[in-house]
Amino acid sequence: MLPFPFDFSFLFSLKFICFWMEKSLRLVFKEIYNSHPEVLSSAPGRINIIGEHTDYNQGYVLPAAINLRNYFFLSRRRDKKVCIWAENFKKRDIFSLQKISFSEQNKWINYVRGVFWTLKEEGFDLKGINGLIWGDIPLEAGLSSSAALEVSIIHGLNTIFKLDLAQQRMAELARKAENDFVGVKCGLMDQFISFFGEKGKALFLDCETLRYELIPLRLEKAELRILVFESGVRRELASSEYNKRRLESFRALELLKKYGVKGYKQATLSMLEERKGEMNEVLFKRARHVTSENARVKKAVEALKKDDFHLLGELIFRSHESLRDDYEVSCPELDLLYETAKEFSGCFGARLTGAGFGGAGIALVKKDRIAPFRKKLLEEARKRKFPRPEFYEVEIGEGANAYFLEKEGKG
Ligand code: GLA
Repeated sequence: MLPFPFDFSFLFSLKFICFWMEKSLRLVFKEIYNSHPEVLSSAPGRINIIGEHTDYNQGYVLPAAINLRNYFFLSRRRDKKVCIWAENFKKRDIFSLQKISFSEQNKWINYVRGVFWTLKEEGFDLKGINGLIWGDIPLEAGLSSSAALEVSIIHGLNTIFKLDLAQQRMAELARKAENDFVGVKCGLMDQFISFFGEKGKALFLDCETLRYELIPLRLEKAELRILVFESGVRRELASSEYNKRRLESFRALELLKKYGVKGYKQATLSMLEERKGEMNEVLFKRARHVTSENARVKKAVEALKKDDFHLLGELIFRSHESLRDDYEVSCPELDLLYETAKEFSGCFGARLTGAGFGGAGIALVKKDRIAPFRKKLLEEARKRKFPRPEFYEVEIGEGANAYFLEKEGKG
């Protein structure tokens, strides 16, 4: 019997996963392709601390990379075939670089195909590869598993074919794959943080200029941890209302532009109030969310710089309210997290993270209050007959990396 409480958190340390996974996944690769992988690339998922649905509105975001990642092992082929083995699903996909088409059966493969398609569109004449994918980021949970997949693929290809692409360019191309091949008109936040995240730091990004600042997240000062609450409601972004919200916020901005507002970053709530009569209620609410969320991100950065986690938590609560009421992307299961958190001493703030419509939320919780908080959430979910939520205590992890592997047996 293991002593109780036994701390399993070491299992989630990057080094441990790298060492253990690398060994066993290399074996799987060898078994499937009868050759060794040449390159390993990996990319993290993310939480977004605050700044939701602001990225495609050229606003501010404050995400952080997490210690859950996607791994991609690959080796070159002489022909134009791409063979991919997805170890999580135990599924294979093979396609030719001469004709890259959208797959209706295997949705996950479109993120991979999309990256190849984008590189081809950009004029890169690639050879085929053998690849193996494995990841520990929960899928369709709002933790950006799809961006981590795209980023690990493009980073791996950049390394193995020596394409010499800078990280920002790769992030933009990964986004293009999602926008134009997969069909989700996402912003750049997820791909950007997956490349530029740093351990223990959040990334304050201006999505218009792409200037960014890494902000230390000294949660230990207040003995806080980040708890991810996965609602169990899985909504695929592409089939959701995401693209609709994007168009609504663009339309609202077009109307505001007539009155001299250049972009959402320049808008203020009083400007909006003055123009309330010029647009319908839905557009007004979308614009109010984006405008108020931009202001909250800037305040959150100031709060973090002063280690003021009470203020940060308040802003996080406000963000959820705005996403629920003005942007209308929450759902009862995610509201449960917010409502429970508001009443729970030891939880500083909680909100949905990512696009919404299901998926995950985050909560800033005192280390010694995590167990009772989880218990309370489970009880409430059961009472309301919601799906059983899952919990992850995440660390703020490193950004993407890719390198040539030593030959097996050497060193
Ligand atoms: C998804 C998208 C991001 C961003 C968020 C909402 O994660 O991929 O670009 O728009 O939703 O903030």
